[in-house]
Amino acid sequence: MYINKELKSLEKKGFIKTNLDPKTLKNFRKFKSKIKKHCSTMLKNKSFSFENFHKIPIEDIKLNNLRLSLIKSFSADNNLNETVYFSLKKLIDACVGPDIIVQKSCNLVIQRPNDINRSPFHKDAPANSNYEIVIWLPLVDCVGTMSMYMFDVENHERAKIFLRKQNSEKEIDKFCKKYGKLLNYKFGEVLIFWTNNYHYIPVNREKKTRWSLNLRFKNLFTPYGTKNLLDYYQILKTSPLTKLLNSIEKV
Ligand SMILES: [Fe+2]
Repeated sequence: MYINKELKSLEKKGFIKTNLDPKTLKNFRKFKSKIKKHCSTMLKNKSFSFENFHKIPIEDIKLNNLRLSLIKSFSADNNLNETVYFSLKKLIDACVGPDIIVQKSCNLVIQRPNDINRSPFHKDAPANSNYEIVIWLPLVDCVGTMSMYMFDVENHERAKIFLRKQNSEKEIDKFCKKYGKLLNYKFGEVLIFWTNNYHYIPVNREKKTRWSLNLRFKNLFTPYGTKNLLDYYQILKTSPLTKLLNSIEKV
């Protein structure tokens, strides 16, 4: 019943805020501890904390190396993509199932306070498939500008027209405050959105560093964007009919 309500909302707005399955939360906590340990070792900092990361003096190149090294460690951990999938199984199945592929490597974004480097106001499609959903999973509690503005489908055209103009940073902020939704997320809460939804990451004006993951799911047989199956995705599960077809092709 609850899932139906969430699906209706997703269908109407193109995004929803929801919770990871409580049964899988301990796996995410373990995963978060692993990242913390990795950072602590790499940065030689025993008291490493995600939220206070910006207090550690680190050059951009070292920060990028840390990020890439963490992403590499996620890829070695095959369970991460599956854990995200099983935690949101009903919603993901209803949106893209039953033949599901997932982005091979989960992205990690580290947004320090007052750092102006971030993605522009955009939507992921058509570079990513129009038949794809994005799971945005914060690793820390995200309040205010640590979060991200989402534009529901109702404001899609308005955002499209706005982006045709050359806009200043101030004009973008004003537009997003008026038409976007900036929701708070606790660790364990996630944002699911359609690749066609516009979104905007404000400059983090809070006193804590934002750490978040993003991962994409689509159906194996739906049209692709610029990212192809072999390079970008891995097959997560296939339907009995697809398995039958595969078994014949192998004979
Ligand atoms: Fe994006």
